[in-house]
This record gives sequence, C-alpha cells and structure tokens, in this order.
Amino acid sequence: SKKITIAIDGFSSTGKSTLAKQLANHLGYVYVDTGAMYRAVTYFAMQNGYITSDYFDKETLINSLPFIKLHFEFNPKVGFGEIFLNGENVENQIRTMEVSGNVSRVAEVSEVRSKLVEQQQEMGKEKGIVMDGRDIGTVVFPDAELKIFMNASLETRAQRRFDELRSKGQEVSFEEVLKNVQERDYIDTHREDSPLVKAKDAIEIDNSNLDREQQFQKVLQLVDTTS
Ligand code: C5P
Repeated sequence: SKKITIAIDGFSSTGKSTLAKQLANHLGYVYVDTGAMYRAVTYFAMQNGYITSDYFDKETLINSLPFIKLHFEFNPKVGFGEIFLNGENVENQIRTMEVSGNVSRVAEVSEVRSKLVEQQQEMGKEKGIVMDGRDIGTVVFPDAELKIFMNASLETRAQRRFDELRSKGQEVSFEEVLKNVQERDYIDTHREDSPLVKAKDAIEIDNSNLDREQQFQKVLQLVDTTS
C-alpha cells in the first residue's frame, strides 16, 4: 500500500500523541509531535526571560527566531523522536505546567507559526508521516489523505493530563490542570492565525468512552481504506 500523510488534530490531552505514536510504530511511519515544537520555542522564551505568566516581549522573541534550531532524534528506548533545542534534548523540560501555562500565548504569534509550519512541511514531504497538533489538517497538510479530529470530555482530558504529570512526579492539583486545559482550548480556538478547527474532511473521534485499543483499531481501518 502507498505511503500517506496522516494528520491528527484536536483539543489538548485528547490522546492525540498516544494514537499517533501507535500508528507510526505500526505502519513504520515517522511521528512528529508539533506541540513539542511550540513547547520548545516557549521554553526558549522562558529561559531568556522573554515570557512569564504576566509579561511577554513578543518582538524580542520574533527577532530571536533565527537562533532557535529544533530537531527530533529517534530514541529506541522510548520508541519516538525526542525534541532537541539548539542541540540539547529538552523532552522533559517542555512538559512542565509552567511551559503549558505559557505555550498557547507563544503559539498565537504568526512569525512563530510560519517558522514551525515550514519545518513541519519539510519533514512531511516524503509522506509516510503521522503528525499531531492543532492545525495539521487545515494548514500544514491540507491535502493529507487521512485527517482525524480527536475529542473527549473536558473531565476525561484533565484527568489524563493530571495522571500523566503525577506519574512524572510533578506536584500539581487537579483544579490547576483542569484550568490550564480549559485556558489552552480557549486560546487555541479563538486565535486569529490558524485557530483549532476541525477540517471539513476530517473524521471526528470522541474517545471519552473508547479505550486505546478500540480507538487504534478504528483508525487502522480508516488507514486501510485510504492507503
Ligand atoms: O499538543 P500539545 O498540547 O503539547 O501542544 C501545546 C500547545 O501548542 C497547544 O495548546 C497549542 O497552543 C500549541 N500548538 C499549536 N499548533 C500545533 C500544535 C500545538 O498551536 N500544531
């Protein structure tokens, strides 16, 4: 069967990356987590003092964009590509609540988006790719052969993110995580440039009541009918 492009979009913590990794491993495709790229730019901005919870020097971040180099390196121990910022593996640093609290404001900046979208399109030009994010089916790969839009109830999503952070030993409260998921959804759907919307030709999957395996089988069937 021919190699295709699979675009997975949806709200925060809908399990996009879990599904995308499963698919990529099964199909022998490359997986790209575009959220990690926005998080890495945010981490860079935080390290340099360009953004805090109540301050954002957009101009300086925009001027620094040429000095931000991102790449992924496949780690066989974890089975996916980990993100590197200017040569440093920042896979763990970008998953904190602090980065989550700032990332959606960074992702609103058009200059940030166009830089990352260009790199994403370059990574996907040979097809055989599964990419997850917010604008993959609408902006990055509008011609993707298969587009999935994932959703789940707010409580389900907040619970998942909470469990994930706790399992990594982070001290967070459920309320804090719920608030962050809600805030990111709001900013991501209301921003001017590339807001989160379901592409017209995307297939919506609500996995509030599906387990991982059921969801995977459902999407594999879709892949079989497309490729
Ligand atoms: O996927 P993840 O939740 O890690 O993404 C973090 C944030 O990055 C999102 O809340 C969103 O603001 C931004 N993002 C985006 N476009 C993408 C991927 C992520 O704006 N394609």
